[in-house]
Formats: sequence, C-alpha cells, structure tokens
Amino acid sequence: KPYVVIMAGGIGSRFWPYSRNKRPKQFLDILGTGRTLLQMTYDRFLKISDKSQFYVVTYKKYYDLVREQLPDVPEHQILKEPLRRNTATCVAYASYKIALKSPDAKIIVTPSDQLILQEENFREKINSAVQAADTEDHLITIGIQPNRPETGFGYIQYLDNPNGLEKKVKTFTEKPNVKLAKAFVESGDFVWNSGMFVWKVKSILKAFEQYMPELAEVFEEREVFFNTPKEEEFLKKAYSQVKSISIDYGIMEKSNEVYVILGDFGWSDLGSWRSLYENQNKDSDNNVVEANALLYDTKDCYIKVSPQKLVVVQGLSNYLINETENVILICKLDAEKKFREFVSDAKEKG
Ligand code: GDD
Ligand code: MG
Repeated sequence: KPYVVIMAGGIGSRFWPYSRNKRPKQFLDILGTGRTLLQMTYDRFLKISDKSQFYVVTYKKYYDLVREQLPDVPEHQILKEPLRRNTATCVAYASYKIALKSPDAKIIVTPSDQLILQEENFREKINSAVQAADTEDHLITIGIQPNRPETGFGYIQYLDNPNGLEKKVKTFTEKPNVKLAKAFVESGDFVWNSGMFVWKVKSILKAFEQYMPELAEVFEEREVFFNTPKEEEFLKKAYSQVKSISIDYGIMEKSNEVYVILGDFGWSDLGSWRSLYENQNKDSDNNVVEANALLYDTKDCYIKVSPQKLVVVQGLSNYLINETENVILICKLDAEKKFREFVSDAKEKG
C-alpha cells in the first residue's frame, strides 16, 4: 500500500480573515459539513491506504491542531516543521523520512485544501496512478480540465496519448499571469495541476538531487539524526538553510519525468473566497449568504458574518463581506491578488 503524505502547513492567506495564521483554512470546517478540510482529506485517503502509512506534515505551531483534529494519527506520523519553507521542503522531509523506513515505497502527496465530490472515481484514478508509478521514475500528477483562467494553479500541457493512461508532460507552468492563463484555457491544450502527486520515493529523491541539489544536501546527514532526540535540532538547522520554494517551481516545472493522468471527479481547490463561492449554494440572486442578512439590489456576493449581527446590504455586486473576531473585510470577490497585501498591511495596523 502507498504512503500518504498530507501537506498541512500553509497559511491560506487568500482566505483571510476567515483563515488566520492561528488557524489556517485546512483546520476550518469551511463547508459546514462537521469535518474540517484536513479531516476530509484524511477520511478520503483512509479508503486508499492504511492509517499506519500516513504522514501529516505541518508547521510546528499547528501540531496541536493536527493532534486534536486527527486523534487517530500517532504522534510519530505527524512531522513538525520548524520553519515554513513551502512544499518542496515539506515533501523532501517526508520523503527522506519514508525512505529510511521503506526505500521501495510509493507515495501519494496531497494538499489539505481540496474538495472532491465523486470519491469513487477519485479512488479509481489514484489507485491506477499508484500502479502506474511502479515502472520507471515517473513523477505523476493528476490533471483537471480547466473551466476558467484561474491564475492560482499550475497549467500542464501534455503530449496526447489517446489510449494511454499516463501522458507525458510537455510544459508545466506554475501560476501564470492572467494573459497566459487565458491563452492556455482557450487553446484547449492544457489541464490544471491538482496538486496531488504520485511517485516512488526513489524517484522523487532522485529528482531532488538533480533539480534541487542544495535541498538534498542539507538532508545528507539525516540518517544520523532522524528518529533520535536530535531530529528537531537537525531540522532547525536544515530548514534555516533552504530556500522557500514550492514543489511545483522546484521540481515539476523542471523535470523531464513528469507525467499527467487526467482526473474527472468533481475536484475543486478551496484555496480562495472565489473558489469557495463557486462551490456553495446560492440564493436566487446568486449570493452566498452565511449571515443574518437583509439584501437589496445585491447580487453575486459572498456574505459571511457572525449570526449575532444583522447585516444590511444595498447595491453591491460581486463583493465579499467577511467579519471575524477583529476584522471586517469588504472587497471585490475577485480581489485575490490583493490578499497578501491586505494581510501584511493588517499586521502593521495590529
Ligand atoms: N507542511 C507544509 N509546509 N505544508 C504546506 C506548506 C509548508 O511550508 N506550504 C503549503 N503547504 C500546504 C498547504 O496547506 C496546502 O494544503 C498545500 O500545501 C498546497 O499549498 P498551497 O499554498 O495551497 O498551494 P497552491 O494552492 O497555491 O498551489 C498548489 O495547488 C494548486 C491546486 O490546488 C500547486 O500545486 C498548483 O500547481 C496547483 O494547481
Ligand atoms: Mg491551495
């Protein structure tokens, strides 16, 4: 059975102020299902592999949240990162850890901020990807048919292989600008990178050595320190020496071994307000309302305000209104690009 590496250390700044540094989106019950996104991810993969094969990688500050939300996952399977160094470092750490235990393992890497509606189709696809990873050093990603020029995703162009499951990737472009994203979608030639990857631990470690040798190097002495009381200290030093870069930029854009398997299982990234809006029930004016609200001439809005307050809105279209403990945010629902700025400016204001 494959190992499952759940990446759960991001901040989720495009979901601010609902998603906060203290409790990012993966730890929130965003859809109101009673399970958080992390828990939903865990549940989904429990039907694919065994509990004992799971690793949850998270920033040290969120360790308690992971423990609380996934009480079934033993402590030693929660990997604590001393610093945030993005997903390449996260994947490297987990991979080296797994390699020590089972050098011939296969790994599924998954984000913890996604919604998947058709779980049976999903399992079928993932299982066939795991099988495909048996041969050669393929780095397999699951591709999703795009339906809008979203700039927050990776775009994959592949060589057609009508009858084959795996398609060789020609180009991988992480987070293109709007113009490029539009051209990609219009060409009909591209799919989105779902952010889920399947590979042999040997293959991904080979890729780190080849494309991110400086990252591979800081882990060189791992065998001396891993699974000893000095692991934490070792990691602190290792993490402080590496660049913060995602697996998409660090490996997927560069490697010649990237293959894509097309998936169609009701996939959404719940990475931003806009994507959450797309996935929620709307009223007759296309508003998503999670609030006690009176709306006048208001359409295409997302209103999420604590139920203790009445919110009265007039004349808005395509706006987001979100209120949390100490922040009220009112902005265009599409203002995604501005969120980093919001968050950092808000920090200064205290
Ligand atoms: N442990 C750990 N450490 N996890 C992290 C870190 C980190 O430093 N940074 C991010 N993560 C986790 C996030 O919590 C999330 O679950 C996952 O890794 C992916 O990170 P995001 O920050 O959400 O990436 P993205 O959405 O911008 O882009 C990725 O996903 C898209 C699809 O949703 C890329 O893979 C894109 O190519 C892809 O299209
Ligand atoms: Mg994401």
